[in-house]
Amino acid sequence: MDATRLPQGEEKTRQVRAMFDAIAPRYELVNRLMTFGLDARWRRRAVADLRLATHSTVLDLAAGPGAFTRELSRQSQRPVAVDLSFGMLDAGRDMPTRIQADATTLPFRDGVFDGITCGYALRNFTDLAGAFGEMARVTRPGGRISLLEVAEPRSGLWRAGFRLWFRRVVPIIGSLLSDRTAYHYLPASTAYLPEAEEIAAMLSRAGFSAVNHRRVMGGLSQQFLATRSS
Ligand SMILES: C[S@@+](CC[C@H](N)C(=O)[O-])C[C@H]1O[C@@H](n2cnc3c(N)ncnc32)[C@H](O)[C@@H]1O
Repeated sequence: MDATRLPQGEEKTRQVRAMFDAIAPRYELVNRLMTFGLDARWRRRAVADLRLATHSTVLDLAAGPGAFTRELSRQSQRPVAVDLSFGMLDAGRDMPTRIQADATTLPFRDGVFDGITCGYALRNFTDLAGAFGEMARVTRPGGRISLLEVAEPRSGLWRAGFRLWFRRVVPIIGSLLSDRTAYHYLPASTAYLPEAEEIAAMLSRAGFSAVNHRRVMGGLSQQFLATRSS
């Protein structure tokens, strides 16, 4: 992948899959260093926010090696992990159910899931509206979704520190421990993300109601919560 230009369409899907295959073995290690382990806390809350009965069936979409999947199991849910990258699914061998699929063509019947989690993947989807449409299709009426994505703090010093860390230091850590191009692409890929208001509107159009957007820890991350309309 060329970190200096952002691919579109089929080319994006191909390159994203190849990139995640390549970084899969050390993805979770670099992730932990990148977030100082804070993402574990954010995921815990994101799963609790689903407010589902225990033993609900929850799709972990774009699961990677399974950080959200494991948290769902810890909170007594029944996770089903889906990811585009075989490498990522292979790195998450402890996940109870792993399925390779594209978020825009999910191999499930309508309304089979009580909820969905999706961590840090929205900007990687080639067709975000198509992925939201599939999320709505496979979630039962009244089911809940909880999505985490990268964000950028709004206030001065916090924002400057974040930019230095995310745009300068993370690519160096990624280069040393994993793949140089991938960890230069990572900060650049935030350009794919629509504004939060637009993402919320897309979720409503896809068939979700009570859409809620929350900035996590001063905007280091962001969370979207919504309920599948009846
Ligand atoms: C940044 S990783 C996040 C992994 C995991 N959810 C987490 O929170 O650590 C993004 C994941 O999205 C997956 N992905 C990208 N495009 C996808 C698509 N169209 N369908 C399914 N998964 C996709 C990638 O393979 C990768 O595992």
